[in-house]
Amino acid sequence: MPAKALKVIVTRRLPEPVETRMNELFDVELNTDDTPLGRDQLADAMARADVLVPTLGDKIDQGLLAQAGDRLRLIANYGAGFDHIDVQTALQRGIMVSNTPGVLTEDTADMTMAMILSVPRRLREGNLQMQQGTWEGWRPTALMGHRIGGKRLGILGMGRIGQAVASRAQAFGLQVHYHNRRRLHPDTESALEATYWESFDQMLARVDILTIHVPHTPSTFHLLNARRLKLMKPSAFVINTARGEVIDENALTRMLRANEIAGAGLDVFENGNDINPRLRGLDNVLLLPHMSSATVEGRMDMGEKVILNIKTYADGHRPPDQVVPAML
Ligand code: DGY
Repeated sequence: MPAKALKVIVTRRLPEPVETRMNELFDVELNTDDTPLGRDQLADAMARADVLVPTLGDKIDQGLLAQAGDRLRLIANYGAGFDHIDVQTALQRGIMVSNTPGVLTEDTADMTMAMILSVPRRLREGNLQMQQGTWEGWRPTALMGHRIGGKRLGILGMGRIGQAVASRAQAFGLQVHYHNRRRLHPDTESALEATYWESFDQMLARVDILTIHVPHTPSTFHLLNARRLKLMKPSAFVINTARGEVIDENALTRMLRANEIAGAGLDVFENGNDINPRLRGLDNVLLLPHMSSATVEGRMDMGEKVILNIKTYADGHRPPDQVVPAML
C-alpha cells in the first residue's frame, strides 16, 4: 500500500519534527492536545487505523484487540518496552507489533549511573537544604554518604542497558556482578570485568547496590519481592530505571521506612504515576518521573524508528523492530 494512503493514528504528542515527518509521509491523525486517550477513544482509533502508534500508558489488552478493525495490521509502539500491549493476542489476530529498541540504551544507562551516584551520596538531601535555605555551612560530619568506588554493584538483567551500565560502573571503580537468564559470552564478561551469579538470591545477599534492567513480563513480576529484599544487606541501595512491577513496591517501602534497606532511586513505579504515598518525603529515596530516556536526541531517534517501522511495513516488508514470540 502506498505509505501516503496509510491511516496512522498517534495516541500522544511526539517531538514536533517527528510529527511533521509523519504528516509528510502518511495520512496521520495526531493527538495535538496530548490528552491520554480513554478506552473508548483507543477502541475507536483501533477500529479506524491501519497503523496505531501508541506509547507507554496506552493499555492495549485482549478486550481492545477484539474490537480492532480488519484494517489494523501494525501497532508501531513509540517506546522500547511493550508490556502494556498484549502482543500474543495481537499476533493471533494477525496484527504485528514493533518497538524502538537500542536508541534509549545510553540515556537510560546515564540516568541509572546518576542515581547510583546520587542516592548513596545523598544528593536529594543536600539539594533540599539549599532549596529550603536551611544549610548552615560546612561541617565535618554533615551529609556523609557512602563512597562509590570499591562497592559491589549487582546488575539484574545484562542486556543492552545492563551492559551499558556495567561499562560506566567500571569507570567509577565499582565491582560489577550480574544475574541474567543467560551468561554473557566470556569475552564480553571479561571486557566488563563482570562476575556472573547463576543464583539471583546469592548475588542479592552480597551486593551494595542493586540496579534493575529486566523487562516486565509474567516471570519478572515482583522478582524483587519481600523475601528477596530481606536477603539484601541493610546497608544496600536499590535502583530501578526499568519497570516498577519488577519490585514489590509496598514491601520496598516498608523496608525503606524501617531502615532495613539503606535507600532507593526509583524512576519507575508499580502502578504508573499512582505512587505509594509512603515513599514520598523519605530522606533516603530519590523519586523521578520516569525520565531516564527523556533526552531530545533519544525521543527523536525513537520517532525515526517508528517511522522506519511503518514505512518498511508499507513497502510490504516486516518492520525491522518487529516484536516476535521469542521476545515474549
Ligand atoms: C520505554 O521506551 O519503554 C521506556 O521505558 C521509556 O523511557
